[in-house]
Amino acid sequence: MKKQWWHDKICYQIYPKSFYDSNGDGIGDIQGIITKLDYLKDLGIDIIWISPMYKSPFADQGYDVADYYSIDPIFGNLDDLESLLQETKKRSMYLLMDLVINHCSDEHQWFVNATQDLTSKYANYFYIEKGENGNPPTNLRSYFGGSAWENIKGTDQYYLHMYAKKQPDLNWENPEVVKELYEMVNWWLEKGLAGFRIDAIVNIKKDLPFKNYMPDRTDGLSSPEEMVRNANGVLEMLHDLKANTFDKYNAIAIAEMFEYDNDNLGLYIGDKGCFSTIFDFDTSLIGSSEKGWYARTKPTMNEYKNVFFQNQLAAQGIGFMCNIIENHDQPRGVSRYLPTADLHDKSKKLLATIFMMARGLPFIYQGQEIGMENTVYQSILQVDDVYTIGEYNTALEAGLDEQTALKNVCDYCRDHTRTPMQWTANKHGGFTTGTPWLSVNDNYKWINVENQLDNNDSIFSFYKKLITLRKGTLKSVLVDGEFIPVYEQENNVIAFIRQKNKEKALIIANSQNNHVILPFKYTTYDILLSNDNMKIHDEKLYLTGYTSVIFKIN
Ligand code: NOJ
Ligand code: CA
Repeated sequence: MKKQWWHDKICYQIYPKSFYDSNGDGIGDIQGIITKLDYLKDLGIDIIWISPMYKSPFADQGYDVADYYSIDPIFGNLDDLESLLQETKKRSMYLLMDLVINHCSDEHQWFVNATQDLTSKYANYFYIEKGENGNPPTNLRSYFGGSAWENIKGTDQYYLHMYAKKQPDLNWENPEVVKELYEMVNWWLEKGLAGFRIDAIVNIKKDLPFKNYMPDRTDGLSSPEEMVRNANGVLEMLHDLKANTFDKYNAIAIAEMFEYDNDNLGLYIGDKGCFSTIFDFDTSLIGSSEKGWYARTKPTMNEYKNVFFQNQLAAQGIGFMCNIIENHDQPRGVSRYLPTADLHDKSKKLLATIFMMARGLPFIYQGQEIGMENTVYQSILQVDDVYTIGEYNTALEAGLDEQTALKNVCDYCRDHTRTPMQWTANKHGGFTTGTPWLSVNDNYKWINVENQLDNNDSIFSFYKKLITLRKGTLKSVLVDGEFIPVYEQENNVIAFIRQKNKEKALIIANSQNNHVILPFKYTTYDILLSNDNMKIHDEKLYLTGYTSVIFKIN
């Protein structure tokens, strides 16, 4: 595998609205990010990805871009962005923006022109089709629920939106659209971005001509995933994008991608892939249901282990995946994967150990480094997220009462990770001096950065130590080393060796409340980091519940 500049980097995702507010309007902004760069540098972060900051009406929190060439005034302006770029460079950090090019906003000038005059060239920038007897052209469902087609007022025409109504899909079959988008991507790369995280990119290829598929719910509609699975030819489009943009700048291109098979991973990542890397979302899909979020189940640690091992092994020898336990589309990883009754600093450190010692690029989401948790919702009115509201309605339509719908759906609410970053124990977690756009989690009084920075036992300090191992003693083993599962048959024990030539690290995580006794034949070993004491005696290792340990072994 060819060595790439980003292989050994530690990455961090910022959700800009909720990171740090510099001017008291309740919304995080670019100057706020600049203020906190030293905090990130101190943690050990190299690459920062910021969720969209382009001009937007925020129907889907900026994933609805109204102008690709400007920064939304709530975040600042292009000069602020230039300063941010300079400030990251000064600290030898790399900046990635979010690239949202499957769709734009219905307030983008292209869409305004298109719908004002269906004969204009802009109509061909989107997918616009005639309806069928007053109904949408096909039975495609949008990701956020309901038809993926919206009528253009006063006409019998409909436009396609695979996400919200305010996110019309761009027509990638039109070479003019492709040219405009490439120019825009290169304009940003010229400014000195190190690359992009690319949104929903596999959706750019549609199964044309549009058709009906077998309905998969009582609404008579068919899932957008089904259409994406049936579309052929996306790889050619993605290689063309890469060759005309990212490759020219040696930029990193990280795709958000779901519909692939581990057997075909080499098409997407590694030396021949159409991206640099993609996120590994598979653990977040455990327990999913075709019916919707309301029917999902919480993963067990054994299920987590199986999927984690499977994917670690699949990427080996092919390329690097981006590892996450959470992002802005998901609940908090510690709340999702750890049993609710066992949510404490020790178990959070165990999850951090598994995550940071895995093969691939670690992508820490803001607040993960201090162990931020899910919020408790009393009413759907507290929820901001369009996706959750759609899923709540799906649950009601399926016959659930309001309380059960709220409970089931809110476990997966995207707002859990969008609540403001908890900096201090002061009002609103020190995120803003004004009123935050989304309420801070009530637990900010005890879960916050200030509490943890100088506390050697804190989760923050633990992340720092894990990162220090990744950058120091274990660097080559953790970056390039092989991933070898061990103690596979042990219930709820997640253990693996990372190995490069003769260098070996052994990671053992007793992912349960019960203690465990494991055979341990090593006579020479160093304990590099653990979240508790352990006993080694008579070729046996004794670990209490949720103890994790990293050994250097021979
Ligand atoms: C994935 C993004 O991460 C999510 O937040 C967004 O709603 C959809 N793509 C649509 O852009
Ligand atoms: Ca602000």
